Amino acid sequence: MIDLTGRAVLVTGAARGIGAAIAEAAAHAGARVGLLDIDADRLRHTAHRIGPAAAWAVCDITHEDQIADAVAALREELGPATGLVNNAGRNAYADPLTMTTDQWDEVFGVDLKSAWLMARAVLPDMLTAGHGSIVNIASMHATLTCPGMFPYAAAKSGLVGLTRSLALETGPHGVRVNAVSPGYIETDLLTEYFDREPPQVRQAATDKHILGRLGSPHDVATVVTFLLSDAAAFVTAADWAVDGGVSARFT
Ligand SMILES: NC(=O)c1ccc[n+]([C@@H]2O[C@H](COP(=O)([O-])OP(=O)(O)OC[C@H]3O[C@@H](n4cnc5c(N)ncnc54)[C@H](O)[C@@H]3O)[C@@H](O)[C@H]2O)c1
Repeated sequence: MIDLTGRAVLVTGAARGIGAAIAEAAAHAGARVGLLDIDADRLRHTAHRIGPAAAWAVCDITHEDQIADAVAALREELGPATGLVNNAGRNAYADPLTMTTDQWDEVFGVDLKSAWLMARAVLPDMLTAGHGSIVNIASMHATLTCPGMFPYAAAKSGLVGLTRSLALETGPHGVRVNAVSPGYIETDLLTEYFDREPPQVRQAATDKHILGRLGSPHDVATVVTFLLSDAAAFVTAADWAVDGGVSARFT
């Protein structure tokens, strides 16, 4: 149903999890996809699984020089990108009293600043084309959070703010910018979170979902491909929850 034929779409953090599912879904919808990640082995494996529509570039998206090289290399292979998914992210489990400024910068570098750096690298081609779609993978932590994950909520709230701000700057040039806020999605990142918690937390979290299950990477990917496509032509500056309704519950 979603048609991305003829589009080139870059996806960060595409080696595994939600990013890999987004790259796969976008290719399935007809796009040529450029996968970026720091995990070279898994990145290569995921790109090969997707097939000839996929190109890949090893890149730490906190470094602007690496972004410049990766975006240029992918442009050579795929042509100018008019789709960008800022998906790469990390959890944070810091103590606000003992966290160092370097640790703070690391979290914000991946979860917030990288989205601006990637957008800055790709926007010139979108402005030339006169259209484009950027999707930032935020989190339900942008609106609700839990103890022990400082300062993840601050970075993801910032990403939703960046989404609005960038949408205002680029909308007059035909570029749409939206956020997607997943809830609990079954990936290695979620496993890492549950491994830190008592065993009953996983079931308790599942029980709080209106739909009675945790999400899959594919659940997020289908919403992202919709937002990348012309089917979402009148959608910008929005934050789409993909959380099985968990954020509708008070307790
Ligand atoms: N899984 C969830 O429950 C959940 C919920 C809400 C939001 N999210 C968000 O969704 C996104 C994807 O999460 P996921 O669960 O698939 O995570 P994941 O850890 O499984 O995958 C993240 C990918 O990003 C890559 N990455 C990390 N730092 C990078 C860097 N500096 N440069 C390039 N690549 C880097 C990793 O190598 C990895 O392949 C993240 O932004 C995360 O915050 C996830």
